[in-house]
Amino acid sequence: MHIQTLSLHNFRNYETASLSLSAGLNIFVGDNAQGKTNLLEAIYVLSLSKSYRTVRETELIRHGADRAIITAQVAKMASLDLGVMVSHAEKKRLLVNQKSTTANSFVGCLNTVLFIPDSLQLVKGSPGDRRRFLDVQICQIDPVYRNNLLKYQRVVRQRNTLLKDAWDNRVQLNQLPAWDNQLVTLGSKIMMRRQEVVEILQSYCQRAHETISDEREELRLIYQPFFEEEEGASMSSAYTIYELEAILRKQLQERRREEVRRGYTLVGPQRDDLVFLINDTDLKKYGSQGQQRTAVLAYILAELELMCQETGEYPVVLLDDVMSELDKKRQMLLLSILNEKAQTIVTTTNLDSFTPETKARALVFTIEKGRILQ
Ligand SMILES: Nc1ncnc2c1ncn2[C@@H]1O[C@H](COP(=O)(O)OP(=O)(O)O)[C@@H](O)[C@H]1O
Ligand SMILES: [Mg+2]
Repeated sequence: MHIQTLSLHNFRNYETASLSLSAGLNIFVGDNAQGKTNLLEAIYVLSLSKSYRTVRETELIRHGADRAIITAQVAKMASLDLGVMVSHAEKKRLLVNQKSTTANSFVGCLNTVLFIPDSLQLVKGSPGDRRRFLDVQICQIDPVYRNNLLKYQRVVRQRNTLLKDAWDNRVQLNQLPAWDNQLVTLGSKIMMRRQEVVEILQSYCQRAHETISDEREELRLIYQPFFEEEEGASMSSAYTIYELEAILRKQLQERRREEVRRGYTLVGPQRDDLVFLINDTDLKKYGSQGQQRTAVLAYILAELELMCQETGEYPVVLLDDVMSELDKKRQMLLLSILNEKAQTIVTTTNLDSFTPETKARALVFTIEKGRILQ
């Protein structure tokens, strides 16, 4: 799939901007603070219905304006018009072919993979970062998962409140079994889907890694459910949904006293992790920075393949300022792999970091103070 046209109206530092994009490589050049990331953020919002940069959505509205509007024409099996309107006065509106729709039907219309300098921390970062990466991908290909995840997150929040309130009022604990049931039902579904998806990602990740690293090393990606935390990374085997339910129930029983004492939920997929192994050693602990970055690139490429396998089309790839973070060889590899597959939208402060061949096949735009020139 690819974005054909994109329009911004009072979004961040853009008053109005309209552009037609190439189905291949698009490069946006500009100095700092001109609007490069804002542009990618707008596309991300069209994809995920919300920003990755802020939870306060009115920040997206240009200072002094009433509302921000982002629209795009997306070419896929069927062509789609997408729109997002964020306003100070009204609730956010999500539009597909001019009709208002729910976030759950909106997400998945335009699939994206976002890669920013922070993404390079994926291996080293916190388990929460890795879960977010995974969830953002699964939510785009599976609305049922997205729905379950949102419900599950609510259950954990409510359960945490309950556990905290129980310090002052033990009677509150009578409500716990009802929340436990929901935690088990939703939690096991989330874990099951994560397990399946990581299994697919793992095989693509391994192959991508063979392509982009010259070492004879084997990369493995492993889903580490929360309860395996203490037992080391390399043992994960596939669980059935019934096994996951049973494990969740057992864990809830075993850790109940501790949960009450600490005042929050210790059991469940909100504590899952992903583990990257190189030749069976933990990349997070023992990998060099180069190895970790190569693994992240392989992971990003695997996400592309996962999305293509699940939806029949490659997502749009958003690369914000990452070229400067990668050495020449990795840049070339990345862009040439993407070239055959996906619409790619790259930002950079310096066009010189691209080879003449890359520039020759790209559509190049300049961004200056919220204006886009071609
Ligand atoms: N809601 C907003 N209204 C007007 N300007 C904004 C808004 N949000 C951010 N900006 C401006 O956008 C600019 C940053 O744009 P950004 O896309 O992050 O830059 P870069 O080109 O470095 O990626 C800053 O000048 C900032 O003040
Ligand atoms: Mg930026």
